[in-house]
Amino acid sequence: MRIARLQALRGAHAKPLQRLSSPAWICPSCQPNGLASRRRWNSTAQIKEKPFYVTTPIFYVNAAPHIGHLYCTVLADVVKRWQQINGKEAYLCTGTDEHGMKIQRAAAKEGMDPKSFCDLNSDKFRSLTYDADISNDFFIRTTDPDHKDAVSQFWLQLKHSLPSQLGLYKGSHEGWYCVSDECFYPEDLVQPSIVPQTGKKIMINVESENEVEWVKEETWFFPLTKYKEALLKFYDENPEWVKPANRMQEVRDWVENHLEDLSVTRPVSRLNWGVSDPEDPSQTIYVWVDALINYITKAGYGSKWRTSTEDMGIWPADLQIIGKDILRFHAIYWPALLIALGLPPAKGILCHNHWTMSNRKMSKSLGNVVNPVFALQRWDVDPLRYFLMRNGNLTRDMSYSNDIIAAIYSKELQANIGNLFYRIAKPKASAGWSTKRAVETSNSGAFTALDMVKDKEEYQHFFSLESFLARTADGVSREMADYNASGAIREVFELLRETNRFITDTQPWVLAKQNETLSPLLLNWTIHRSAEALRIAAILLQPIMPSKMKRLLDEMGVQPDRRTVAYAKPDTDDAYGTSNEKKNINFDRANKHLTLFPPTVSGDVSDAEVLHQFRAHLGTKAPKSKMNQMTELLAMEARMGEAQVAKLLATDIPVEQDLTKASN
Ligand SMILES: *[C@@H]1O[C@H](CO)[C@@H](O)[C@H](O)[C@H]1NC(C)=O
Ligand SMILES: *[C@@H]1O[C@H](CO)[C@@H](O)[C@H](O)[C@H]1NC(C)=O
Ligand SMILES: *[C@@H]1O[C@H](CO)[C@@H](O)[C@H](O)[C@H]1NC(C)=O
Ligand SMILES: *[C@@H]1O[C@H](CO)[C@@H](O)[C@H](O)[C@H]1NC(C)=O
Repeated sequence: MRIARLQALRGAHAKPLQRLSSPAWICPSCQPNGLASRRRWNSTAQIKEKPFYVTTPIFYVNAAPHIGHLYCTVLADVVKRWQQINGKEAYLCTGTDEHGMKIQRAAAKEGMDPKSFCDLNSDKFRSLTYDADISNDFFIRTTDPDHKDAVSQFWLQLKHSLPSQLGLYKGSHEGWYCVSDECFYPEDLVQPSIVPQTGKKIMINVESENEVEWVKEETWFFPLTKYKEALLKFYDENPEWVKPANRMQEVRDWVENHLEDLSVTRPVSRLNWGVSDPEDPSQTIYVWVDALINYITKAGYGSKWRTSTEDMGIWPADLQIIGKDILRFHAIYWPALLIALGLPPAKGILCHNHWTMSNRKMSKSLGNVVNPVFALQRWDVDPLRYFLMRNGNLTRDMSYSNDIIAAIYSKELQANIGNLFYRIAKPKASAGWSTKRAVETSNSGAFTALDMVKDKEEYQHFFSLESFLARTADGVSREMADYNASGAIREVFELLRETNRFITDTQPWVLAKQNETLSPLLLNWTIHRSAEALRIAAILLQPIMPSKMKRLLDEMGVQPDRRTVAYAKPDTDDAYGTSNEKKNINFDRANKHLTLFPPTVSGDVSDAEVLHQFRAHLGTKAPKSKMNQMTELLAMEARMGEAQVAKLLATDIPVEQDLTKASN
C-alpha cells in the first residue's frame, strides 16, 4: 500500500532532486573530472594554470556530523562550483580524521576495535556529503594506506633532510595534554577549575576549557621555535593570508608570544592508534601532524612528487576552510611544517565561527543539537544550502533556527524566485506571451524601435532593470573573490527584487490586452528583460542551489553549455526560451508540491515534532496529523524516496525530550 502511494507520487515528480553522480549541472566542456584534464595537470611538459584546490578540515570521527560540518562543506562546495562556472578546473577534498587518543578511548568505550569504530562513523560523514550534493573529488580517511604512506615519507624527510638544528630531535617532554583537543597547552594557558556536577577539581586550558592532564614522556620534537622568524616573515608578506583579519592577528600574537617546540610523537604505550615512526616503532606520530598531511596526500605528495621542484599537481591549495577552533594548527603548525620541507603553504585560509541554536550554544545536554541529516530532509537540500550560505558569517557566531529558515524559504525562494519563474517563464497558455517569442523578438532587432521612447518620462519604468542586469554578475564575482557567499546572494536578490518591481510597474498582463501600436513590442520587451533577469540569477545561483537552478534553467530552455558566468550578462544568449502552448499546468492544491519550491511544514514545529508526525503518518495506525499538514508530509516523503525515508526513520533525534520542551 505504502510503496504504491510513494511511487505514484514520485512518478508525478518531474525529476528526482537527487545528487547527480557527475557534475552534469555545468557544461560538459567545463567539466574537470575527465581523465584528459587530470592528465593535463600531471604532465610536466606544459605548464598550464594550476587547477583551483579547496579543502575542508577532515572531520574527527568521535561523534556524528553536526550542522557546522555541513556548513563548512557546503561553503567549500560553493567555492569549487563557482570556479567551475568561471571555466576553471577545480578540486575539492574533504574526509575524516581517524587516529588519536580520543578515538582510541571512544572505541574502547563502545567495546569496538578502533578501525571498525572509524568505519562506522566515517560513513556518516561520507553519506552526509552525498546527501548535501557536495561535489567533492576526494574523500580521504587518515586510515587509508596511501595517506599513511604519505605521512611516513613526510616524517622521514623531517627527520633526515634538514640541518640538525631545524630537523626533529628527541627529548623528554612534560606538559599539559588535552585529550579532547589532542594537543598540549603551554603553562600560561592552563588553570584550575571545578566540575560543577561533581565538585571535582581539575585542570583546564583557557581556550577550549577542556580538561588537561600532566604528561611526562620521551618523544620526538619539531623545533617550532626555530621557525618563528620564517612564520612572521610569511605573514608579513601575505597580510591577508587568514581571513577575516582579526584571526590573522590572533595567529600573529600566538607566534610572537606562545611559540614552543612541538612534541610530535607519543609513546606507543600510551597511543597506538596512529601511524608509527617507520624507524622507531616505540613512537606514534602525533595525530595533528598525521591529519594535516591529508591535504597534500590527495595532491599526490608521496606518490607523484616529494619536493617543490617537481610538479606538485593541485598543491598549494588555493583555499583551506576551517573553523575557529583549529586555527592554530592550520595557520601555525601546518605552514611551519611545510616551510621546513621547502614546500609552499596554502594560498589562503578562511576561518569561520560556530553555529548556535537560536543564539544558544548547541549541546547534547540542552537537547538542541541540529541533526544535519534530518535538516536536509526537512527543508530539502538546496533550500538548506541556501540558508546556510545566506546566513553564514565569518565574524560572529551564526544562529540556526527553523523559524528563520521558514521565513527565508517563503519570502525569498517561493515568493521571489519561484513566483517570478511561474509568472514569466511558465505562464498559463492563455497569458498571451512566451519567453520563446520574446527571445525571437530580441533576435529580430525589433527592440531598436524602443529607442524613440527611451527618453520619454512615461516610459522610464520599462528601462529600470537595465543597470541591474548589467552589473549583477560583477557584483557576485566581487563577493565571491572574497568567498563571501552571503554577499553574493544579496547581489542576486537585489536583481530579483527589482525584477518583481519591474513586472508590477510594467504590467505585462495589461500590455497583452492593449492594442496600442507599441503594446506587443513592449510586452515582448518586458518578458525578455524579466527572463534575462531570471536566467542571470539562476546561472549565478547554481553553485548554491545546483539542482533547483538546473531545473529552472532546463525549464527555461537554457542550453547546458550556456550556463557559465560569461553568460550572466544581458543579451549574451539568443537561443533560449520556451513556448507555453501545450503547457497548462495549474498549481492548485493537488499539484502544488510539484512547483520549484513547494510548500513545507511550518517553521514553528520542532524537528522532533516533524519526525514524530512523519513516523505516525508512515505507521500503520496513522493517527490524524496534528499539524494538519498531511500534504507537506506527503511531499517530503515523495521527494525523499524510499531509501531516504528508511534512513530518516532510523534517525536519532531525542523525540521525547524535545517534545516536552516544545510544550512548555
Ligand atoms: C556578520 O555579522 C556582522 C555583525 O553583525 C555584520 O556586520 C556583517 O555584515 C555580517 N556579515 C555577513 C557576511 O553577513
Ligand atoms: C559579505 O557580504 C555581506 C552581505 O552583503 C556584508 O554585510 C559583509 O560586509 C561582506 N563581508 C565581507 C568580508 O566582505
Ligand atoms: C483597439 O483600439 C481601438 C481604438 O483605440 C478600439 O476602437 C478597439 O475597440 C480596440 N480593439 C480591441 C480588440 O480592443
Ligand atoms: C511580440 O509578442 C506578441 C505576443 O507574444 C506577438 O504576437 C508579436 O508578434 C511579438 N513581436 C513583436 C515584434 O511585437
